Amino acid sequence: MPRAEFISTGFYVPERVVTNDELRQWWDTSDQWIRERTGIKQRYWVEPGKQGGSDLALEATRMALERADMDASELDCIIYATLSPDYFFPGSGVYLQRKLGVFGIPALDIRNQCTGFLYGLAVADAWIRTRQYRRILLVGAEVHSTGLDFGPAGRDLGVLFGDGAGVAILGPTDADDRGVLSTHLFADGRYAELLWCESDASARFPRISHQDLDEGRQYARMQGREVFKHAVARMMESVLAALGAHGLGPGDVDLLIAHQANLRINEVVQRQLDLRDDRVYNNIDRYGNTTAATIPIAIDECVQSGRLRRGTLLVLTAFGSGFTWGSALVRW
Ligand code: UT7
Repeated sequence: MPRAEFISTGFYVPERVVTNDELRQWWDTSDQWIRERTGIKQRYWVEPGKQGGSDLALEATRMALERADMDASELDCIIYATLSPDYFFPGSGVYLQRKLGVFGIPALDIRNQCTGFLYGLAVADAWIRTRQYRRILLVGAEVHSTGLDFGPAGRDLGVLFGDGAGVAILGPTDADDRGVLSTHLFADGRYAELLWCESDASARFPRISHQDLDEGRQYARMQGREVFKHAVARMMESVLAALGAHGLGPGDVDLLIAHQANLRINEVVQRQLDLRDDRVYNNIDRYGNTTAATIPIAIDECVQSGRLRRGTLLVLTAFGSGFTWGSALVRW
């Protein structure tokens, strides 16, 4: 049975850099607070209304196709992870497909927030192993900046998020020494409301009202400290589950790429796993939290800088709204 391997990667962020200091025009915050509590120094935001997530995904896909020396027509399938779709429906996958001009191939949208790329990777790996599809475009793309609460209640979340897209093209390999070794996915819906966006919603009637808008229910809300604690514990557990499934331990890890939600979360995970600095990669200082896009952006940077080389044992892990979380083990 073949495994999925990464054929190529790419990422794209909008041109507009937004520094922590700039955020002070909307929120009572400071560069010092944001750096110390999150590790973020800047993020990229779209020009409002000019670019949707699928536009960012298109640029990232073009980069990955070029690096793979492939044409979009060679793709068999699109898996698109996002929590900020271009529209409520249809899913963003079909918009990306239209922009790529490859009509007919399936486009699956994944709604698992920060863990979306890993859920997508698990699906892609299963489809490749069962020979359903040979060339899968896996996307993580977000535009957060157009959905932030620029009022006082939005301060905690508003400073965290950035826009961006990262993609991977996956295909089969028969080599037994590389590829996606396994994926490990988890969820616990008891915590759904600790990080969520309440409206508009088919579970409510009306789906959205003027009162909802006045009360800011259209914005994401988070109980940050609770989410922080769960993020550390659940990512740790799932990394150990992934390693344990192969009789491995933290000492075998060449590179850990964790979801970029808060540098402090990742530093605790690094400490608890006792990993040296050269065994972890973080880039939240430059991009903020780009949710489904954080992992593919980080992977691409590691490929381009040579930190990810043939033979590297890579561990991916993520945690987010749902709660959903998971890990994947990849021999590059
Ligand atoms: O990507 C999905 C998963 N998401 C996460 O994993 C995020 C998890 N949570 C976090 O990263 C952190 O909880 C935050 C970065 C969101 C907040 O950091 P914290 O250290 O947990 O701060 P806090 O919420 O406990 O707030 C501490 C203080 C409060 O003031 P008082 O009550 O001590 O006077 C907040 O009002 O910091 C205040 N605060 C801010 N101050 C300046 C909250 N947000 C800000 C801000 N600027 N942006």
